[in-house]
Amino acid sequence: MKFTFLTKYWSYYLIGAKNTILLAFLAVIFGVMIGLILAVFRVGKNRPLRFLGTAYVEFIRGTPLLVQLFIVYYGLQAIGIRFPDSPFMNRLLGINFADFMAGVITMGINSGAYVCEIFRSGIQSVDKGQSEAARSLGMSYAKTLRHIVIPQAVRNVLPTLGNEFVVVIKESSIVSVIGIAELMYKANTVRGNTFQPFEPLLIAALVYFLLTFPLSKFLARVERRMRTHD
Ligand code: ARG
Repeated sequence: MKFTFLTKYWSYYLIGAKNTILLAFLAVIFGVMIGLILAVFRVGKNRPLRFLGTAYVEFIRGTPLLVQLFIVYYGLQAIGIRFPDSPFMNRLLGINFADFMAGVITMGINSGAYVCEIFRSGIQSVDKGQSEAARSLGMSYAKTLRHIVIPQAVRNVLPTLGNEFVVVIKESSIVSVIGIAELMYKANTVRGNTFQPFEPLLIAALVYFLLTFPLSKFLARVERRMRTHD
C-alpha cells in the first residue's frame, strides 16, 4: 500500500471535510425545523395535521435516501426551481451552489423525519403532571407546549439530536453522486487522479472517523453530565 499521494492531495481531504461539515450542519438545522413542526403535529389533537406528520415520517423513512436525492435534484430542475448560481458562493464553497443546496434540502428533508421522532419521544417523555399543572394555571395548550413541555423535551433529546448530526455526516457521503464536492467526492477525485482505487478510500474513512468520533465522545459526556444533573 502506498500513501505517498497524500503529500500532493491532502488538501483535497481538508476541503472535502469542510464541505461535509457545512452540508451536515445546514441539513441538521433544516431537519430540526421540519422535525419540530412535525412532532408538534404528531402529538397534537388535529387529525389532518397528525396524519400529515405520520405520513411524512413513514414515507421518508420508507424510501431510500438515494432515491430522495435524485427526486429533489432532478425534480427541482423539472419544475423549474433553480437556486441562483451565485459566483460568490461557488468560490466560497469551491462547489456549485445550486447543487449544494439540492444536497442540503434532501438531507434536511430526510433528517426531518428522524428528528420528528426524536422530538416526539422527547415530548412524550415529559411528565404529564407538567402540562397538567400548566393547564390548571390557565395556560393555553399552545403556551403549555411552547413554554413548559418543549423546553424540557429539547433538553432531554439534546444528546440524541447530536447523534443525528453524526448520522447526517456519514449519510451525506451519498450526495457525492450528484457532484457535490464533499469528502467522498474528493476521495473519488483522488482515486481517479492517482490511479489508486483503494488507498484513498481508507483515508476518506479515517477522516470521517476523525469527524464523528470526537463528536460521539463529546455527546457521551454531555449525556453523563445531564444524568448527574438530574
Ligand atoms: N441510509 C438511510 C437511507 O438510505 C438514511 C438514513 C438516514 N438516517 C437518519 N437518521 N437521518 O434511507
